[in-house]
Amino acid sequence: MKQTKEIYILGIGSYLPRRILTNAYFESRMDTTDEWIVSRTGIRERHIADDDEYTSDMATEAAKIALEDAKMSAQEIDCILVCSVTFDMAFPATACIVQKKLGHSASCPCMDIEAGCSGLIYSFEVAAGLLQLGHYKNILVIASDKLTSITDWNDRATCVLFGDGSSAFVLSTEKNGAKALLVDTLLSAEGKDAEHLLQPAGGSAMPASHETVDKRLHFLHMNGREVFKCAVRGMIAVLEKILQRNQIQPSAIRYFIPHQANLRIIESIADSVSMAMDRFIVVLQNTGNTSAGSSGIALDHAYRGGKLAKDDLLAFVTFGGGMTCASAIIRWIA
Ligand code: ACO
Repeated sequence: MKQTKEIYILGIGSYLPRRILTNAYFESRMDTTDEWIVSRTGIRERHIADDDEYTSDMATEAAKIALEDAKMSAQEIDCILVCSVTFDMAFPATACIVQKKLGHSASCPCMDIEAGCSGLIYSFEVAAGLLQLGHYKNILVIASDKLTSITDWNDRATCVLFGDGSSAFVLSTEKNGAKALLVDTLLSAEGKDAEHLLQPAGGSAMPASHETVDKRLHFLHMNGREVFKCAVRGMIAVLEKILQRNQIQPSAIRYFIPHQANLRIIESIADSVSMAMDRFIVVLQNTGNTSAGSSGIALDHAYRGGKLAKDDLLAFVTFGGGMTCASAIIRWIA
């Protein structure tokens, strides 16, 4: 998206629930091994939300940290966007629930965005567009998912992959105290492949019934091999395109921040841009795939781990249900 006003990231935060499940947990209850999980995915452990900790709770925690990072109160936010695939409920929007949990009393607009695990970058572009309109100054963008709430714990092909977590960003037209400049965003989707990754029941196509529950259709269903191929193809395409249109060589990117789904997918992206893996921020070994929040969690860990320096160029690259893909380039300016 071509910017006319410059858009800045003022604050960043992320949150992972306290409870951790290691691969040993799965070894003890189904026919799998730590070796299989690590060699196929790179994942060693994941954080799991409690039954009474919802997507909105994790969103609120990350948002509070991002606001603190921006040295800003919730009242200074004039629009809230929440992206997820596991909203608290079909409606009201989880963004409205987060507004209440933040104690935000001004009547600012709040809305949900669904773009699978690319939701964060989709929301960056939506927020940037809204900021360009000039109606808003500070937008809170939150990516939060409780994927374990739609995980089939009897399906070894999927349950080992996922964890819960959230990330949050304050985007603004205000430069003062900014951490990063949003240089560009690029979004895509291949709806023709959407059947490979979905939660079939619970919407208007297949409303909840005893039969849909008996058939376990409220859980995430995935054709892993097809998703793998779509992910690699789509992520390489958006990354090449955004680099080209900004005339940036891959070697000029200090860190790539990929969706944290699978180490082998990330290695394929690294191969495609001929970059070593130490140029990729990877946290999935400790988080599993946290869906929409994952790339933001990775950035936040790099930021708080002291890895980022002034003028570093960073490239997000994501994929998710839809099949959506997205990329964003930011310049670290703090
Ligand atoms: N432990 C042991 N064996 C397993 C497990 C397990 N946990 N899961 C599957 N297997 C078996 C299968 O049953 C199969 O056995 P078979 O050959 O006897 O039939 C064998 O392992 C190979 O299964 P595949 O599904 O072909 O394994 P693959 O090498 O494709 O790896 C994986 C599976 C890791 C899921 C891979 O396809 C993948 O990473 N796909 C991308 C998935 C992804 O990233 N999804 C996230 C997108 S959605 C989101 O981000 C929310």
